[in-house]
Amino acid sequence: MHVAIIMDGNGRWAERRGLNRSIGHQVGARAVRRVVEAAARSGIEVLTLYAFSSDNWSRPTTEVSSLMRLFRRYLQSEVARCVDNGIRLNIIGRRDRLAADLVSIIEQAERVTADGARLTLRLAVDYSARDAIAHAAALTPVGSASRDEFAKNLAAVTHSSPAAPAVDLLIRTGGERRLSDFLLWECAYAELVFIDDYWPDFDEAAFAAALREFQRRERRYGSVMPSVPPAPQVVPLATR
Ligand code: FPP
Repeated sequence: MHVAIIMDGNGRWAERRGLNRSIGHQVGARAVRRVVEAAARSGIEVLTLYAFSSDNWSRPTTEVSSLMRLFRRYLQSEVARCVDNGIRLNIIGRRDRLAADLVSIIEQAERVTADGARLTLRLAVDYSARDAIAHAAALTPVGSASRDEFAKNLAAVTHSSPAAPAVDLLIRTGGERRLSDFLLWECAYAELVFIDDYWPDFDEAAFAAALREFQRRERRYGSVMPSVPPAPQVVPLATR
């Protein structure tokens, strides 16, 4: 099962408390740890987190650099824990606009965790689904209507390795109900769950509630047959 999350609301969480937005991102990083642990425990195979969209470059420089610092710190501090827990790290998105040292940290984290077979944790950084789709389409031969070939190119341009399956469940926190240029191709048949809580408040119970909501949905993939194919099974987490 592939779960993707738009982690929204860090800034508002901080502003509500009279704190700097960067503090919201720092507290948000703790929620990332909680959710990764919960995902690994529940048998989810792929978890993709939207950490920095290509449009986020337009934020104030101080906020952008504090986010980049946070990614460096997170990748360096979490690698050992990922290895111990069978978690494979993959950073998806563009790399040509990231600082050279961050790219080295990313490559090192991916190398060291490459054998992780329990959960693939994908962090989307400098990610834009529309840019990726346009780029992959340009690489796909004219006249080729092969979805597989396009998907292969899409994985290549986003550094998605291994190529991820389609998203089953997309969760967005923070109260907004939109996709914000995230995994537009991969979410073709994703179930969408929107949560009003801000990301720093997202915990294991909220995650479990989203998984239960997903399991109540009937996935028809455009057909009239009920539940085709059957919804992926997840191990129930603690209830709310
Ligand atoms: C959106 O909230 C969140 C982001 C742009 C950054 C996401 C980053 C983290 C959760 C922290 C670090 C992540 C990792 C992987 C270590 P927002 O700032 O747009 O919130 P707002 O809508 O309330 O302003």
